[in-house]
Amino acid sequence: MNRPYIFCHMMTSLDGKIMGSYMNTKEGENAGNVFYNISFGENPYYKHQGWLSGRVTTDDNFTFYEKPALDENAPVVPEGDFVANGNAGMYYVSVDPAGKLGWKSGKLTYVDTHAHVIEVLTGKASNSYKAFLRKLGISYIVAGVETLDYEMAMEKLKKLFGIETLMLGGGGVLNWSFIQAGMCDEVSVVIAPVADGSSKTPALFNAKDEWASDTPVAFELQSAEIKDGGSVWLRYLVKR
Ligand SMILES: NC(=O)c1ccc[n+]([C@@H]2O[C@H](COP(=O)([O-])OP(=O)(O)OC[C@H]3O[C@@H](n4cnc5c(N)ncnc54)[C@H](OP(=O)(O)O)[C@@H]3O)[C@@H](O)[C@H]2O)c1
Repeated sequence: MNRPYIFCHMMTSLDGKIMGSYMNTKEGENAGNVFYNISFGENPYYKHQGWLSGRVTTDDNFTFYEKPALDENAPVVPEGDFVANGNAGMYYVSVDPAGKLGWKSGKLTYVDTHAHVIEVLTGKASNSYKAFLRKLGISYIVAGVETLDYEMAMEKLKKLFGIETLMLGGGGVLNWSFIQAGMCDEVSVVIAPVADGSSKTPALFNAKDEWASDTPVAFELQSAEIKDGGSVWLRYLVKR
């Protein structure tokens, strides 16, 4: 395979929500720890070298909807990709097709995991945005002109950064578009024994017309484990 092995790893409520007030309950927090330990703990199940997030998830957790500090008169950057660090060991990869994220640094910390940032851009990202990323030492790859070229993006992550296993880490829009594109091999979900019943919060998968259809996809159960605090960890292969 020229691309990494891709597993989608997420935590949900009992009603399949990936956000909401249920996360602040004892049950939600316990399941959050189970989720983290499986993927990033001392002895992680998946020994991945990076995790992939959608632009909204990155804004929610790391860039907080800040505008990037662009220099509209920046000199023209060289064409193609920019590898600021090809040896980081752990990468945070953000799908940001038009270049909107207002990063302050090329390094981030998630709980106790440190990662180098890679942006996945398309031809919609401006020269000034690429110059902004270069200035901050943030790597970027360009995959696709108007829309994301999934295959090209994933192949570049493997070739340029040595990512052999990649966690697809949400949100629901990104997850479903990758599943529909045949770019997800496995789904791993930790279900917390709690729900808040909100109709306003996003679910594990979300088919947005722009990127994916609601064509059904079936999964093949690989394992089911009861974890701390009554959460369950389910692993499925994506059926082709
Ligand atoms: N419980 C958990 O384990 C968990 C994990 C991760 C996230 N979350 C939560 O999930 C929520 C956000 O989820 P979301 O589904 O609304 O958003 P998302 O998937 O994080 O981001 C969606 C955005 O990413 C870009 N994008 C995604 N797929 C694309 C594709 N195939 N091609 C091109 N661009 C693509 C687009 O950016 P542009 O709009 O810039 O074009 C799109 O609007 C957040 O609140 C986050 O905190 C929960």
